[in-house]
Amino acid sequence: MRILFIGDVVGSPGRDMVQEYLPKLKAKYQPHISIVNGENAASGKGITEKIYKNLLEWGANAITMGNHTWDKKDIFQFIDDAPYMVRPGNLPEGTPGNEIVFIKSNGKEIAVINLLGRTFMNPVDDPFRKVEELIEIAKRRTNIIFVDFHAEATSEKLAFGWYIDGKVSAVVGTHTHVQTADDRILPNQTAYISDVGMTGPYDEILGTSKDAVLKKFLTGLPVRFEVPKDGRKQLSAVIIDVDSTTGNASNIERIQINDDHPFFS
Ligand SMILES: [Fe+2]
Repeated sequence: MRILFIGDVVGSPGRDMVQEYLPKLKAKYQPHISIVNGENAASGKGITEKIYKNLLEWGANAITMGNHTWDKKDIFQFIDDAPYMVRPGNLPEGTPGNEIVFIKSNGKEIAVINLLGRTFMNPVDDPFRKVEELIEIAKRRTNIIFVDFHAEATSEKLAFGWYIDGKVSAVVGTHTHVQTADDRILPNQTAYISDVGMTGPYDEILGTSKDAVLKKFLTGLPVRFEVPKDGRKQLSAVIIDVDSTTGNASNIERIQINDDHPFFS
């Protein structure tokens, strides 16, 4: 089974890139399942029902989230009727939304899980213990398990990858918005990358206006962080190949689409 994962889609530039390139990536790489991180898809913070539906229409099979899951009030109106959305699993009991989603392809199922890190992030439940609980639930139905670990610190991401090496098919990092070059297959056949990178503005800082970010660094004064709508754009993704019986990963490949790395069909 081949899995395509697109990293943090930021605002309208990110959505434009998914609409334009997800069909092209599907034609080129022929993934069985396409997963998109959508926690920044509405103006950089959160997601709306319209955007959730758009991402599915453009070809996504599942949407993962992160620390911005609740930033648009709209989420509470539809999250319990969003069967293809996975919110972070290590939140208190009773939190709305799915902590695990199963997607069917070619008679096989893939379990999709999303967890938040705790280092330099707001307090949440322990992702290490929670992932074990979710793996146990997933294993009752399938060996193919995909984990989006939405976290800040590379140390925590690496620790998490090593902790569940051999128990899941893939652990991909999101949230820091810069693609890391440490993609690899860990010794027990789990695909790993510390961060897939973001999808959105190419000439800004992590998707946010570079003028605002620079002002913040130079003056320390409060600034409004916004996603610029115009300008060059980028898409960041990975392709992962997984044995559809054992769930073992055999390959992970990084993808960047931007003016310095043009897309070739
Ligand atoms: Fe995030």
